[in-house]
Amino acid sequence: MPSSFSPASFEIACSTGGYDIHIGNELLDRELGGAGERLVIADRFLAGTLAARGIDAILITADEHAKSLDRMGDLIESIKDRQATRNTTLIAIGGGVVQDCVTFVASVYMRGVPWIYIPTTLLSMVDSCIGGKSSINVGRYKNIVGTFHPPRRVVIDPALAQSLSTEQRIAGLSEAVKICMCRGPEAFDAYLALRPSPTMDETGFAAVTELCLRAKKWFIEIDEFDRKERLILNFGHTFGHAIEAASGFAIGHGVAVGLGMLAALNLGETLGHAPFSDPRVTTFRDHIHGLLASVDGLVAHLAACDLDKLMDAFGADKKHGREELAVILVNRAGAVHRIMLPRSEEMLKQVANAFSSLKSIPFAR
Ligand SMILES: NC(=O)c1ccc[n+]([C@@H]2O[C@H](COP(=O)([O-])OP(=O)(O)OC[C@H]3O[C@@H](n4cnc5c(N)ncnc54)[C@H](O)[C@@H]3O)[C@@H](O)[C@H]2O)c1
Ligand SMILES: [Zn+2]
Repeated sequence: MPSSFSPASFEIACSTGGYDIHIGNELLDRELGGAGERLVIADRFLAGTLAARGIDAILITADEHAKSLDRMGDLIESIKDRQATRNTTLIAIGGGVVQDCVTFVASVYMRGVPWIYIPTTLLSMVDSCIGGKSSINVGRYKNIVGTFHPPRRVVIDPALAQSLSTEQRIAGLSEAVKICMCRGPEAFDAYLALRPSPTMDETGFAAVTELCLRAKKWFIEIDEFDRKERLILNFGHTFGHAIEAASGFAIGHGVAVGLGMLAALNLGETLGHAPFSDPRVTTFRDHIHGLLASVDGLVAHLAACDLDKLMDAFGADKKHGREELAVILVNRAGAVHRIMLPRSEEMLKQVANAFSSLKSIPFAR
């Protein structure tokens, strides 16, 4: 028997006029029953569910290759083969990979078509579903090209999270705690009060999702195009993207971001930010340690990451300047902030030490 929770709806204001977020029970079925010219593009794990409803969907195998630029042509051809016009609404159902692919093609197909998003991973529910960004890989460079193209609507059915693995739930909670830590002490305390854990039921996930999306709403409404305030939501991502790449994507995005935030804390301490005056920083670190301890094989995957590959990927991040490294750290007072550091030999050594510090954390084996 599914647990019940109060449905929530709120709006995200943006330059295209805004869009609604709905969080509630059985919303997937309601959205699939919608009328009008529509084309479903979904994660392949939903093949049976969609076929049972007679829906002829384009299916995507959600891995990092799927969101590479050279695959976008195939996806666009499949959309055209199904006679999609400028009036067709694309319905994306899946995690961040499907979201990135559909945001991107919806932004360029016939110079732009509307789309609706139904996230299926906790990570996409709590974080990526709002903000309107697509991030596409080119060759070995992750998320190096993209567009802004907000959806018409985001429909969140937390029951979909029930089939997620423990690791996928941890990945979602890593991004969730990141958003709340970035937003400030009140959001962080509210997050902890929900007692977030990978074993939460859908009522718990619905509450975490609403809290995080309301917190993220502040950033994306004040800085839609990622030029100032919103940039701190990249906390853990420069380190994290490097960890994903150096592990050959054995370590997934959300878990890598959790590790990346620990590396950023370490770099901040080396640069003199410790001791932190806010005890929340220790609580934050302990919470991430606790989450990551349940990720199978993490120690082995980290041990297999080559330091040169980590440093190459870190240095290639699109957020850096030629002479400076853009990093998001936690300051002495416990606030997440963005600073530019010189791209010097000494600084790169400190970054390498921050990566190495992760290998000595006694995560579960
Ligand atoms: N554009 C953005 O703003 C943004 C933000 C964050 C992350 N991302 C991107 O999102 C990607 C990661 O996305 P993700 O972690 O949401 O997952 P994902 O799309 O990579 O999917 C991970 C796995 O979970 C499976 N899956 C999806 N939903 C499921 C469900 N309900 N039950 C069981 N299995 C399910 C998929 O088939 C896949 O095997 C990365 O490529 C990352 O770069 C983009
Ligand atoms: Zn992320």
